[in-house]
Amino acid sequence: MSEIIVAVDGPAGSGKSSVSKEAARRLGYAYLDTGAAYRALAWHCLDEGIDVENADAVAERARSFDYATGMDPDHYFVRVGGEDITPDIREPRVTAVVSAVARVSEVREALNAMFRRMMSEHPRPGVIAEGRDITTVVAPDAPVRVLLTATEEARIARRSAEVSAQTTEATAQQLASRDRQDSRVVDFMTAADGVITIDSTDIDFEQTVQALIDTVRSGLSTEQ
Ligand code: CDP
Ligand code: CDP
Repeated sequence: MSEIIVAVDGPAGSGKSSVSKEAARRLGYAYLDTGAAYRALAWHCLDEGIDVENADAVAERARSFDYATGMDPDHYFVRVGGEDITPDIREPRVTAVVSAVARVSEVREALNAMFRRMMSEHPRPGVIAEGRDITTVVAPDAPVRVLLTATEEARIARRSAEVSAQTTEATAQQLASRDRQDSRVVDFMTAADGVITIDSTDIDFEQTVQALIDTVRSGLSTEQ
């Protein structure tokens, strides 16, 4: 694995992706969006007409689908079978089924192996990897581990501002239901031992990026 791994977990809308990507850019690190792989697998199942409730069929796809993502924060992309599906994986129809795909343990095993490989193969001095179980399962020994939180109200407001294809009420229901389903599989609402919590509810994007960078710097200095 790369020398420096920064693990960031948190619920939907806490700011994980945008904050991690910007902090990685400023630190010169690579960026790994693990949720994108779960979303890409869900998109692929929909595209191929695979029933997302059929755990065996979904697991089989997780082991064989041709997935690629850009870990350079300035050249982020998501591809399946060479096709660029970067915007498609955020569509509400994908968001609606991603938790069903993510609860299959064989899917998690296959994707976790891929994430660990990606974290060790990039050319940069460090990597920020974000998701739901990076601090606890994927990289529990990372020198810096952060739980990024925010109240449900703040998270719904942020997500609604991004998703124009549905009402705020529908976005709120989908976010709460997804958090509920995901929480049955991994705990990303409470910080595990040694994990530092950053609450982004009352700080803006720039302050959250700065808080993450400060946490990385102080975490690495106490490591040495
Ligand atoms: O950005 P947002 O928080 O809406 O979601 P995401 O990070 O793109 O993750 C999409 C979905 O992937 C989550 O709702 C989980 O079901 C799953 N996921 C997971 O199970 N484990 C991870 N490490 C990352 C995502
Ligand atoms: O990846 P996750 O679902 O945790 O959140 P995100 O997609 O990175 O962030 C959702 C939105 O919240 C983005 O538009 C961020 O710019 C915004 N945000 C904010 O308004 N204030 C913060 N302190 C952090 C993020």
